[in-house]
Amino acid sequence: MINMELKAEQIQSNWEKMLGYINAYISDPRREKLIEFYKKHEEEIMLMPASHKKAYHNSFPGGYVDHVNRVIEGALATNKIWVEFGAEQNYTVEELVFSALNHDLGKLGDEDNYAHIPSKDEWRKKNLGEMYQFNNALPFMSVPERSIKLLVDNDIKLTKNEWLAIRLHDGLYDPANEPYLKAFMPELKPRTSLIYIVHQADLMAARIEFEKEWLPKFGKKEVVKEKSKTNIKSKALGSIKSEGLKNMLNSL
Ligand SMILES: [Fe+2]
Repeated sequence: MINMELKAEQIQSNWEKMLGYINAYISDPRREKLIEFYKKHEEEIMLMPASHKKAYHNSFPGGYVDHVNRVIEGALATNKIWVEFGAEQNYTVEELVFSALNHDLGKLGDEDNYAHIPSKDEWRKKNLGEMYQFNNALPFMSVPERSIKLLVDNDIKLTKNEWLAIRLHDGLYDPANEPYLKAFMPELKPRTSLIYIVHQADLMAARIEFEKEWLPKFGKKEVVKEKSKTNIKSKALGSIKSEGLKNMLNSL
């Protein structure tokens, strides 16, 4: 089993990297307000997982910031491809980074109740690796909507493009987005490509996180182990003369 947990220094440097993106791409007064907000919840955001469920991506301490940085970097890189292929720049790079940075902010919970609490269920921790559980004190609201509410509540204004990019970042994986993304009439289609770029970056990041964490657990290691075991066994069997001993080793 690959240990996906991040070291303390990595968690710290990921956090600083994320604050660095705010300072580099977001202009005042929003930059200042975002830094203030993130610092207010520093300990929780720095350590929170991208999900409380083990089966989801980056469900380990520090997994959230690790994911967010990957989405920011992925969005900047994906943007270059869209530009190269002739996409109109109907959004700014600040809007792109702002949306990527805050797309999953609602995973924090709200300011009365954080969404993730350390699991008290020993069986689920031991057998399923679920180190967190969902905090049932937190009333239901979709993650994108809670992301937007947290920003608005902290007087951090969003542009229309950012609002839509955060709201729709799950693309058609969330049927609630269909009225925006399945419109046939030209006047009802989104007027910015930003939403598709943020969605693509998020999809790519989550897929890569899944591959890194889970694919090695699906037999790759066992195959290698089995192969080397067979080699050792056949080598050992070749040098043994006694039939009885050979049979015994062969049945191992
Ligand atoms: Fe995400």
